[in-house]
Amino acid sequence: MIPIFSLQECVSLAMVVAWVVLLSFCKADPASNREAAALLKWKDSLPNQSVFNSWVSPIHTNNPTPLSPCRWYGITCNNAGKVNQIDLPGKGINGTLENFDFSSFPNLVRLDLQRNNFGGSIPYNIGMVSKLQLLDLSTNSLDGSLPLSLANLTLLSKLDVSRNQITGVLDSRLFPGESSTQPKIGLLSLKYLLLQDTQLGGKIPQEIGNLKFLVTLVLDKNHFDGPIPPSFGNLSHLQILNLGNNQLSGNIPSTLATLRNLTDLRLLANNLSDFEAVYAHGA
Ligand SMILES: *[C@@H]1O[C@H](CO)[C@@H](O)[C@H](O)[C@H]1NC(C)=O
Ligand SMILES: *[C@@H]1O[C@H](CO)[C@@H](O)[C@H](O)[C@H]1NC(C)=O
Ligand SMILES: *[C@@H]1O[C@H](CO)[C@@H](O)[C@H](O)[C@H]1NC(C)=O
Ligand SMILES: *[C@@H]1O[C@H](CO)[C@@H](O)[C@H](O)[C@H]1NC(C)=O
Ligand SMILES: *[C@@H]1O[C@H](CO)[C@@H](O)[C@H](O)[C@H]1NC(C)=O
Repeated sequence: MIPIFSLQECVSLAMVVAWVVLLSFCKADPASNREAAALLKWKDSLPNQSVFNSWVSPIHTNNPTPLSPCRWYGITCNNAGKVNQIDLPGKGINGTLENFDFSSFPNLVRLDLQRNNFGGSIPYNIGMVSKLQLLDLSTNSLDGSLPLSLANLTLLSKLDVSRNQITGVLDSRLFPGESSTQPKIGLLSLKYLLLQDTQLGGKIPQEIGNLKFLVTLVLDKNHFDGPIPPSFGNLSHLQILNLGNNQLSGNIPSTLATLRNLTDLRLLANNLSDFEAVYAHGA
């Protein structure tokens, strides 16, 4: 039976249809579309692997709902529906970060890609995720140097790039002091800095002493030489200091003895003098 509508019913029906069309446009939030598109572009640049099976666009699934990555494996969104966490630790993922468009994730606070098989270098545009608080790229096969753009991550609380093939030096501009020029950039909020077992070398910059919130500093199994900066005595919250297995030389700075919160001090396998004195204090 074919339904016959009155003019009034037709008008109401047309309005309902208009609303449905309008609402579906509103739901197709362009920001989360951009995030989804960026994630799919990255996925497509990697070898096919099952960890990304849930990362599919509606074109592939005939799913009529707008593209939202919030339910994809490893992705978390904030209340506004924007991606704020990417957690893919220990999945054995093969690939690189070369095609990861960091500029598409202005709300990202957490990026955890530890214990995978990511190779290549850390892209310069990582500096675009300026709200990032946790960056864990440890235990991968990343090479190249630490990009200076990391200085843009002023809210970063934890940086862990341990167990990679990172080369070069620690750039002192990542750790600016109070008197530095405006605008204020640098890893100003760091509590945990872990660069264990990489290929980093050169001097340990004394500017690390500017990281006033630092709790953990782990730089063992690298090629650092020269002295331990006396400025470490300014790190009043420091609990763990591990500089073992480097080529550090000279005296152990007496300023370390003022670190009242230090409970774990490791300086073994270096070329330091007067080891006994400070070890006795730490014990
Ligand atoms: C990718 O892997 C999934 C299962 O893991 C499989 O269903 C799909 O056909 C694969 N796609 C390509 C292009 O190889
Ligand atoms: C990564 O590549 C290796 C070597 O080709 C392979 O054995 C492994 O299964 C790959 N990992 C995944 C998650 O597909
Ligand atoms: C730093 O972040 C701002 C946005 O907060 C961005 O415009 C700029 O390009 C970033 N710089 C680098 C070096 O990534
Ligand atoms: C940090 O330590 C150095 C050397 O111990 C000292 O000269 C400097 O004044 C200290 N800076 C601050 C801000 O406390
Ligand atoms: C260790 O220090 C001694 C004396 O200061 C020096 O002769 C030696 O070359 C140093 N070794 C290394 C590996 O730096």
